[in-house]
Amino acid sequence: MSLFWRIFALDAVGLVVAAALLLGPVTVSTPILPGEVLVVVAGLAVLLTVNAVVLRVGLAPLGRLGRAMADADLLRPGARAVVSGPVETAELITTYNAMLDRLAAERAASAAGALSAQERERHRVARELHDEVGQTLTAVLLQLKRVADRAPKDLREELGQAQEATRAGLDEIRRIARRLRPGVLDELGLLSALRSLAAEFTTHGLTVRHDLRAGLPPLTEETELVVYRVAQEALTNTARHSGADRAELRLSPAADGVELLVRDNGTGLGAQTGESAGIRGMRERALLIGAALSVTSGANGSGGTDIRLRAAAGAAPATTAPASPGGLR
Ligand SMILES: Nc1ncnc2c1ncn2[C@@H]1O[C@H](COP(=O)(O)OP(=O)(O)OP(=O)(O)O)[C@@H](O)[C@H]1O
Ligand SMILES: [Mg+2]
Repeated sequence: MSLFWRIFALDAVGLVVAAALLLGPVTVSTPILPGEVLVVVAGLAVLLTVNAVVLRVGLAPLGRLGRAMADADLLRPGARAVVSGPVETAELITTYNAMLDRLAAERAASAAGALSAQERERHRVARELHDEVGQTLTAVLLQLKRVADRAPKDLREELGQAQEATRAGLDEIRRIARRLRPGVLDELGLLSALRSLAAEFTTHGLTVRHDLRAGLPPLTEETELVVYRVAQEALTNTARHSGADRAELRLSPAADGVELLVRDNGTGLGAQTGESAGIRGMRERALLIGAALSVTSGANGSGGTDIRLRAAAGAAPATTAPASPGGLR
């Protein structure tokens, strides 16, 4: 029954009963007698109580809807308000859920566009760094070597230092270019790219162990890129925030696809609940391929952080955002 008819029926019943009583056995004298006061007050109390109960029950779904609206996060799919209550409220909740679905689809489409533009731009910057600056520095290095071969002895040491500095700059540029564009992903595949990521993050204070299982199901290009970028951001966070000395990068077959796990033995997220561009970017990418991402702390016994991504093998699900030209790449 709709909220309108519930309230109307209740009021009608109350008023009709009151009128019938007044026309029948109940009388109200002027001035009112103590017994009559009792009857009127009791009638009023019953009417108000029933009214309050009906309104409370009828409006409860609206309260739940309000809380669902406050907690809504388009990056966490599947959370929708439960449709219940009187007709008007149920319709409102259904409309709200439909609006969330539409917003999620639009958001996914624009995120796909933005991420694809970002990947293209990274690609371009990486290529220019490698092809332009890298070539120039290589030429400088060769020139320095030729000069050093002909230079007087007292200048050779300084020229050697200049060569070293140029070589270091060249290495740095190659590293930046590799980070911007996981070229190994195209050339050697996901496993090699993850292996080199683990090596790259293994520094004096942090050892990244990798456990990359054989026999993984084939993944789409988009899924491989998402797995790579999530691993990259998770390891960047481990290096930047966790204070861990050990981390693990694992890619293993899961029920219908693969599971990526990046685990560290650091401080964990603690009371920190705010997610910044890094973690939200991971969620955004996971949504694009219909993968599930979880970020948890303290689950591994060492108090550190676990980042888990479960992605389906094979073709990307049809619910993902419309692929931009060239997909994410
Ligand atoms: N492995 C981790 N160990 C401890 N704290 C972490 C870890 N990963 C993330 N955090 C905490 O979660 C916060 C949010 O991480 P997120 O990657 O979203 O942002 P960020 O790393 O601060 O900035 P950026 O947008 O550059 O990635 C971090 O600021 C940090 O406090
Ligand atoms: Mg980060």
